[in-house]
Amino acid sequence: MQIQTIQTTPYTDQKPGTSGLRKKTKVFLEKEHYLQNFIQSIFDVIDVKEKRLVVGGDGRYFNEEAIQIILKMAIANEALEVIVGQNGFMSTPAVSVEIRQNKTDGGIILSASHNPGGIDGDFGIKYDGANGAPAPESITNAIYQKTLNIDSYKIAEMPNIDLSEIKTFSVHNTLIKIINPVANYANLMEQLFDFNAIRNLFKSGFKMHYDALHAITGPYAKEILENRLGAPAGTVVNGTPLPDFGGGHPDPNLTYAKELVDVMYSDNAPDMGAASDGDGDRNMVLGNHFFVNPSDSIAILADNADVTLGYAGKVNGVARSMPTSKALDKVAEVKKMDAYEVPTGWKFFANLMDDNRIVFCGEESFGAGSNHIREKDGLWAVLFWLNILAVRKMSVEDVVKDFWNKYGRYYYSRYDYEGVDADGAKQMMDELNEKLPTLKDVSVNGLTIENADVFDYVDPVTQEISTNQGIRITFTSGERVIFRTSGTGTQGATIRIYLEKYISDKNALFEDAQDVLAQLVETALQISRLPELTGRKEPSVIT
Ligand code: G1P
Ligand code: ZN
Repeated sequence: MQIQTIQTTPYTDQKPGTSGLRKKTKVFLEKEHYLQNFIQSIFDVIDVKEKRLVVGGDGRYFNEEAIQIILKMAIANEALEVIVGQNGFMSTPAVSVEIRQNKTDGGIILSASHNPGGIDGDFGIKYDGANGAPAPESITNAIYQKTLNIDSYKIAEMPNIDLSEIKTFSVHNTLIKIINPVANYANLMEQLFDFNAIRNLFKSGFKMHYDALHAITGPYAKEILENRLGAPAGTVVNGTPLPDFGGGHPDPNLTYAKELVDVMYSDNAPDMGAASDGDGDRNMVLGNHFFVNPSDSIAILADNADVTLGYAGKVNGVARSMPTSKALDKVAEVKKMDAYEVPTGWKFFANLMDDNRIVFCGEESFGAGSNHIREKDGLWAVLFWLNILAVRKMSVEDVVKDFWNKYGRYYYSRYDYEGVDADGAKQMMDELNEKLPTLKDVSVNGLTIENADVFDYVDPVTQEISTNQGIRITFTSGERVIFRTSGTGTQGATIRIYLEKYISDKNALFEDAQDVLAQLVETALQISRLPELTGRKEPSVIT
């Protein structure tokens, strides 16, 4: 085997966002040395020589080729050890588990999360640090700076490594460990949740439909739900990861997980439905003819911590992203937990967890998690729900309604305008920013604005400042609306409008959310002039 030094030229578009570097798959395929430049830049920044890493991906198109390149580069750069999932598979939460349990220096995740895969889809790379969390901006910025003046990279000239067999061997100075990507993760879940209670639930005839959307959680869900918890075979559907996710969009929401939604709203609907995204860190939970809003979901998990093995009596604090509804804050208030509001993106939660300030956290975007790892965790949330249902012996719908009765309800919805012309989106946000000072005490479409500002955040642990994390407008009658542009889209711009209205009147808890929020939607569109500036009449996704 020979170590080669290959000359390369830099690209200027490799700035990693909050979720790493994410591009059209074709960019990785067509731009020469594109992946190699980025990987060498990571390796240089973390000084990979004699370091230990985890590498895995969600199985999307280019996963295996990328892993081969990364392994050969790790060998050439003399990494001490690389832990790889069998066949190159590992969910994002499982990478975080492996980093933490093996105490490695970090890990590389190959995924574009909930974005479609395949040759016409997206591909991505993310670096997680030794705590198992997405790298902080100081690191991702340094990686980006490297990509701007990289002139060569190192790679071992050797045949591809067989990833299909679990084994450990050395190449040059690097130990390669090919591991079962599910086992450690599943064992950890068994420590956190009451598997006996859940086993009894399934024994009693409880029916579940878990749609892995042809993405990475299939093998995890089959092992945990069917093998360990005794759910009947067939509980997990679309359970084999496919390079193009079967042509679908592996995002568990009401639009893209339509097959699941149809099952859950059919005559013979099972008791619970769930899905995860491409890389396994998101979750959607449904009951029989019932959708659980993710903002409610994280609040309900926090409210029910005592039914679990791992969290009973241990929840000192919780956190939510700014656009997530304030239901979680209500729980924190009643249960005397500290509550934090952070910008969108998981790394902010990770800092709070590393500092032991919080145990649970969640986002409105179908993300929930705890301090068991430093990524959000789709199956974790699903198992938490099963644990609640098994112990409380209630349906999904009844658990949610019971929660609203206790705390009042935050009617909530998110409107996504995907693939909007970038200039139009920018103009809209710029105009909004400019008129913020004039918006106080103004009435628009029958609602009176109480306050309008931009969300800036100072991390209480690291003191890092994050500015411009969304525009928020509150109204005197208790509504809130937030405008943000997405950091994860790969085409044009995506505008997100988040809408929330709190109602505590016990006679008005079970209305249709879109009806309750209709006036606020219209107000938001008038304030932002979104239809005029983007030409979009309807959102692409409503949650
Ligand atoms: C989206 C979600 C955000 C989440 C991120 C990564 O980011 O809105 O909550 O942390 O994906 O899963 P956005 O596209 O809004 O920047
Ligand atoms: Zn994801």
